[in-house]
Amino acid sequence: MLLSRSSLLTLVTFIAFDPVYCFPLTSSFHLQKDIGTIWQVTDFHLDVNYSTHGDHTQMCHNHASSPHHDHHFQDNLSTYGDYSCDSPWALVSSAVSAMKSIEASPDFILWTGDSIPHIKDSEDSPDKVYEVIGNITHLLRSTFPNTTIYPTVGNHDAYPSNQMPDTAPGSDFYAQLLSRSHWAELLQPDDQAQFVTAGYYSTLISTGFRLISLNTNLYYSMNNFTLNTTDPGGQFEWLQAQLELATQNKEKVLLMAHVPPGIFERRAFLQWMRPDFNEQLVDILSNYSDTVDMQIYGHEHTDTFRLLYKDGVVASVMLMAPAVTPMNSSLPGVGPNNPGVRLFHYNRTTHRLLNYHQYYLNLSSIRPGVNRAVWQLEYRALEDLPLDNFSAPAFFQLVSGFSFNKTSAFRRYLRYNTVSYQRDPIPDQCTLAEQVCAIVHPTMQGYMHCAAVLSQGKLNIDNAAVNFDGISSVPPMPFSPNYSYPSAAHPRGSVHIYVYYIVAVCSMCLCLAFVILAVLRKRYTSTPYLLFRYHPLTNRN
Ligand SMILES: *[C@@H]1O[C@H](CO)[C@@H](O)[C@H](O)[C@H]1NC(C)=O
Ligand SMILES: *[C@@H]1O[C@H](CO)[C@@H](O)[C@H](O)[C@H]1NC(C)=O
Ligand SMILES: *[C@@H]1O[C@H](CO)[C@@H](O)[C@H](O)[C@H]1NC(C)=O
Ligand SMILES: *[C@@H]1O[C@H](CO)[C@@H](O)[C@H](O)[C@H]1NC(C)=O
Ligand SMILES: *[C@@H]1O[C@H](CO)[C@@H](O)[C@H](O)[C@H]1NC(C)=O
Ligand SMILES: *[C@@H]1O[C@H](CO)[C@@H](O)[C@H](O)[C@H]1NC(C)=O
Ligand SMILES: *[C@@H]1O[C@H](CO)[C@@H](O)[C@H](O)[C@H]1NC(C)=O
Ligand SMILES: *[C@@H]1O[C@H](CO)[C@@H](O)[C@H](O)[C@H]1NC(C)=O
Ligand SMILES: *[C@@H]1O[C@H](CO)[C@@H](O)[C@H](O)[C@H]1NC(C)=O
Ligand SMILES: *[C@@H]1O[C@H](CO)[C@@H](O)[C@H](O)[C@H]1NC(C)=O
Ligand SMILES: *[C@@H]1O[C@H](CO)[C@@H](O)[C@H](O)[C@H]1NC(C)=O
Ligand SMILES: *[C@@H]1O[C@H](CO)[C@@H](O)[C@H](O)[C@H]1NC(C)=O
Repeated sequence: MLLSRSSLLTLVTFIAFDPVYCFPLTSSFHLQKDIGTIWQVTDFHLDVNYSTHGDHTQMCHNHASSPHHDHHFQDNLSTYGDYSCDSPWALVSSAVSAMKSIEASPDFILWTGDSIPHIKDSEDSPDKVYEVIGNITHLLRSTFPNTTIYPTVGNHDAYPSNQMPDTAPGSDFYAQLLSRSHWAELLQPDDQAQFVTAGYYSTLISTGFRLISLNTNLYYSMNNFTLNTTDPGGQFEWLQAQLELATQNKEKVLLMAHVPPGIFERRAFLQWMRPDFNEQLVDILSNYSDTVDMQIYGHEHTDTFRLLYKDGVVASVMLMAPAVTPMNSSLPGVGPNNPGVRLFHYNRTTHRLLNYHQYYLNLSSIRPGVNRAVWQLEYRALEDLPLDNFSAPAFFQLVSGFSFNKTSAFRRYLRYNTVSYQRDPIPDQCTLAEQVCAIVHPTMQGYMHCAAVLSQGKLNIDNAAVNFDGISSVPPMPFSPNYSYPSAAHPRGSVHIYVYYIVAVCSMCLCLAFVILAVLRKRYTSTPYLLFRYHPLTNRN
């Protein structure tokens, strides 16, 4: 029987609108000469011991000692990874191939660290660390032979994990990265000379456009090397001088680093850096926000942003790109993410970022045994968040409009936050409060102020939106100068158990305050508040 005309039309329409065909995998941004592109790729966390027949409760390794390892039971896992585990080589190379097929000639590539898997130090060694990073260096170098690649170290790229040395004496760690991990093939001699000091460098991309690659692992709360120091590696002094010079030379600075300042948006009160380091860095970046109005980070594995202020006005935005690794976090409630890579567009004349396109792999759509991964466009920042323009005030305006509304920007943002792992997350008050306060305040003082203001009723019950009055203002006096903030923990780091208790108690208090408030408000009004029913976040898919 012949296909009827309408079913043929349906078929054609289906093909035309299938997501794969719908978003052509070739970037069209070349068409405009004054727009350049930049790839960002981060947090590969390559685990060469991933096995499709591994045990997903044991990092997908084939452990002889694993309780699941017998002849009757073997997991049958996807070639491209699993939400419980770090990236197999197939996922890492698939991500890099996707970058190549989407945009083969970016102006440059930013590689924001963390190539090493979340394994115990006892299963790792310095030799393996250098080798894993070196293999990824070669993959990127051979896939993009003619493109400048700017690398930065992540907290996992050290051995032992997180222990990043702050000075050269006694450690040749940075020199080894250059030789054994082949970063000497990526960095110019001048940049290498700076890099060996303590893992940071500053380089001119083109006239008037500077890249600063910071080693923020020095500020990471779990780095014991920098416990007693005030300016590890002399990086603050160096950064201040670099930004002052760039400002005088009327350069625009693109700043990249692994660990971002601020508080984790999916975990109440979890600040990555030591408080004094966090505040010093935020102060410098705020002060020079005219020169560096956009910053690019990794580390969190989630997709989010944070705002910085100068003289009380929002002046700069920090952008966190999601990881290649899909691995679930060990922190309760955080969850896994789909693998992602990010393409920025910028104006080659003004050196300002214009937009980014977030690409991802829907890992749950790949059945075991399938050897083909289709990377797709997840969203475009300007059009889909959406933003009025790609400036810090526009990001501020976006977060000001966050609400519980099913069609709202917040619900979309929350989906992108897990790289669409949670397709339709249902937020509660705590999620909204934690997200908003983390976005608008990169210091603990401001974050706590925001939390206090929100718990005093600024989550507007009537339209289920945030009432922004007072949230974004930083309190004039330190909240509590001697308060000892709960220290940060990496999702996979070994942390003192009391840190979890402090974090858990604090978040419970915050949540309880919102729930009590919601109940009280509900009593004094006649409208039904379905939106404030407690919905625990569940992992979907
Ligand atoms: C992979 O597992 C083997 C066997 O347990 C171990 O010897 C090796 O060090 C592991 N390799 C890496 C890179 O973790
Ligand atoms: C690095 O690549 C080499 C050559 O492909 C391979 O033999 C080696 O096992 C890889 N090492 C790691 C740790 O991935
Ligand atoms: C890289 O540049 C060299 C020399 O200009 C050229 O021969 C080669 O084809 C280029 N490779 C790619 C992949 O563009
Ligand atoms: C870092 O310091 C803490 C507290 O002193 C200690 O428990 C931990 O073992 C240290 N970590 C490393 C890798 O030295
Ligand atoms: C930091 O100071 C403490 C106490 O003064 C000392 O025990 C510790 O060894 C110091 N750590 C480092 C890395 O210098
Ligand atoms: C802030 O910037 C001004 C002008 O560029 C400079 O003089 C001052 O030292 C900077 N302060 C800090 C704390 O960076
Ligand atoms: C992620 O980890 C949490 C516990 O932290 C667990 O409840 C959840 O089932 C895990 N999700 C996946 C997909 O592994
Ligand atoms: C880039 O900046 C120049 C100078 O301000 C401007 O003329 C041009 O329109 C901009 N291009 C885009 C695509 O924004
Ligand atoms: C990913 O794939 C799964 C399984 O095919 C599907 O249920 C889910 O909706 C997809 N997610 C997205 C964001 O398309
Ligand atoms: C794994 O699952 C796929 C798809 O369900 C199936 O085709 C394949 O035979 C399975 N492999 C094993 C070893 O069980
Ligand atoms: C960018 O958007 C912000 C927020 O909507 C707006 O205040 C600002 O005027 C816009 N800037 C430009 C140059 O259009
Ligand atoms: C939710 O948002 C849509 C689109 O912005 C709007 O039309 C609708 O009125 C909103 N609903 C509520 C309950 O606020």
